[in-house]
Amino acid sequence: MRFSQRVCVAPMMDITDRHCRFFYRLLGPDIFLFTEMLHSSAIVNGDFSKLLDFDKSEHPVGLQLGGSEPKVLNQATKIASKFAYDEVNLNCGCPSSRVLAGNFGVALMRTPAVVADCIKAMKDGSDVRVSIKHRIGIDDNKDYEFVRDFVGKVRDAGCTLFYVHSRCAMSNLSPKKNRKIPSIDMLKVRLLKRDFPDCQFVANGELDSVAKCISILERSKDLDLPGADGVMLGRAIWKFPALLTELQKAFYPEKNIHSLRDVVEGLDYYYDLQKNRGIDTRRVIRGWANLFNRQKGAKKWRIMLGEGLKPMEIYQMIFCS
Ligand SMILES: Cc1cc2nc3c(=O)[nH]c(=O)nc-3n(C[C@H](O)[C@H](O)[C@H](O)COP(=O)(O)O)c2cc1C
Repeated sequence: MRFSQRVCVAPMMDITDRHCRFFYRLLGPDIFLFTEMLHSSAIVNGDFSKLLDFDKSEHPVGLQLGGSEPKVLNQATKIASKFAYDEVNLNCGCPSSRVLAGNFGVALMRTPAVVADCIKAMKDGSDVRVSIKHRIGIDDNKDYEFVRDFVGKVRDAGCTLFYVHSRCAMSNLSPKKNRKIPSIDMLKVRLLKRDFPDCQFVANGELDSVAKCISILERSKDLDLPGADGVMLGRAIWKFPALLTELQKAFYPEKNIHSLRDVVEGLDYYYDLQKNRGIDTRRVIRGWANLFNRQKGAKKWRIMLGEGLKPMEIYQMIFCS
């Protein structure tokens, strides 16, 4: 059976909301998408429909949860399962000070027994596939043995799908700096796949081209190590969403892709739908602004979209005049 998470867009706070995911789906019909991280308590205690509802066209889509209390994660997963997410993922990678203070995100890597309890509780909450997204280390815990032991304990709790952000988290750096330093280490993904062949590992970190994705998916003959099962891209998709179409073509060549005109028509339809629902269109278009980046007309598209013109109107003015 095909591995649905072969190519994924990373969860990104304030970016991968439902409007952005609708857009990404138009560009990459088979790419696996993720929500932003949603805190499990917000789902349990808040307006869960507002937080969890999504357009059915977004499938396959995973929900990422934050939190460290098994009971709350269990309840959040139960609620989420009613919305038919394709996967529920536990965030064990976020290094922000607010998250660290709350003892979740990457802080969880220091307490694998807690993660194991969380995973068991999430699995008890629903039949949906449960996964985690984690780092290759945190602060001084950067040796391979640390992440290997972490994965082993989480695997023993019943999790077999791991998204590996291949950069060590550093609590003394701001999240912004920690997005560049220290360098990415994809070797650890290969080692994890070697040591846990029954699990699936999706490699994440600075992948920004089809070639780089193919390279980490392939077995390394030089190192005699297996490749990753999947790839996850974050910032490259945010900056150049059209890369999704290149990934779609490379990894799902048997499927038809939408032309950019069809994509804009889809956005136009969605824009009206959201406007009629009373949604603030400034929020709706946020992720769409980068559609034509690296192409002529990119700046005009961005400016006119910000000015409140409709996608198809802009497209016709820029590309059909
Ligand atoms: C603006 C921004 C927001 C992010 N929000 C999340 C998040 O909510 N959950 C998460 O697991 N990772 C989050 N990340 C990390 C990404 O998912 C990803 O692991 C990281 O950007 C590395 O991948 P990249 O080099 O392809 O961007 C975020 C990253 C960025 C840049």
